[in-house]
Amino acid sequence: MITKIRKAIIPIAGLGTRFLPLSKAFPKELLPLADRPIIQYLLEEAIAAGIEEIIFVTRPAKKNHEIVDYFENAPKLEKILKSRDKEYLLDELKNLKELSEKLSFTYVIQKEPLGDGHAILQAKKLIGEEPCAVFFCDDLVDSKIPCLSQLLSVFKTCQKPILALKKLPKKELFQYGVVDTEKIASRLHKIKNIIEKPSIDTAPSDLAVLGRYIITPEVFDYLKKTPASQKGEIVLANTFKQMVKDGKMIYGYEVEGRWLDCGDKLRWLKTNLYFSLNHPKFGPELKKFLEEINQ
Ligand code: UTP
Repeated sequence: MITKIRKAIIPIAGLGTRFLPLSKAFPKELLPLADRPIIQYLLEEAIAAGIEEIIFVTRPAKKNHEIVDYFENAPKLEKILKSRDKEYLLDELKNLKELSEKLSFTYVIQKEPLGDGHAILQAKKLIGEEPCAVFFCDDLVDSKIPCLSQLLSVFKTCQKPILALKKLPKKELFQYGVVDTEKIASRLHKIKNIIEKPSIDTAPSDLAVLGRYIITPEVFDYLKKTPASQKGEIVLANTFKQMVKDGKMIYGYEVEGRWLDCGDKLRWLKTNLYFSLNHPKFGPELKKFLEEINQ
């Protein structure tokens, strides 16, 4: 019985086309939400669930430098801050240092952006024969119990792949993967099918899949044989679909909390606003500012 998940894959090799032109030069996982980049929220969630190793799947052109720079120690900068009487700013770096010391980082390259499933497959060798978590940078959940920890508590009993699910209003479903399920317990579902971006009439339920998963070694076996989609991509959702068709158990868990999507410009702006308005230091002033400019 596996009760601990040590590794998480974070694919960041996508083109981020919905953020063009910004994403030509700037990685979307470093977009800020209030005063921290998206990736930092994901790593905090990973640490809370007991993850020890992060495997970033990145693209060759990125050379990883932005992420490496962000999490690397900066002794020179610390020295300058001390010499310029800006020691109060050292705390900002200290928190980040503490966070990155709790994790080890490995980088693997996806040579071509051939889909989220293809990106995950590139990390197979580093995962070996153990279950692991997968984070997509587009999705955050603001919840009492962090999203991955919620999935982990289900995994401890079911030992099978788990997808995070969230109920959405019907009119929003067409933008996501939507599941057909059999509900087997409170919040817990057995996945029967996944329909990608269904129309209102064809959506099999109001439960959408968000970018947080626990996968098992068997998922990698299926990823290897998943055919490319019409767009030439290996899509994780299609892998799960095939597994279910073959009678494999895949669970879906309706996670508690607010789903905050950062996948396109408007959603990122909303999510940024959400975290900024709730920020203990900046929130109160920002609320006043909003009232002022709305008059
Ligand atoms: P998305 O579906 O958000 O794709 O991928 P994207 O390329 O980032 O963005 P758009 O749709 O072009 O705007 C979900 C996650 O999978 C990664 C992305 O970086 C993101 O974290 N991904 C996607 C890869 O690593 N490689 C790929 O080939 C595709």
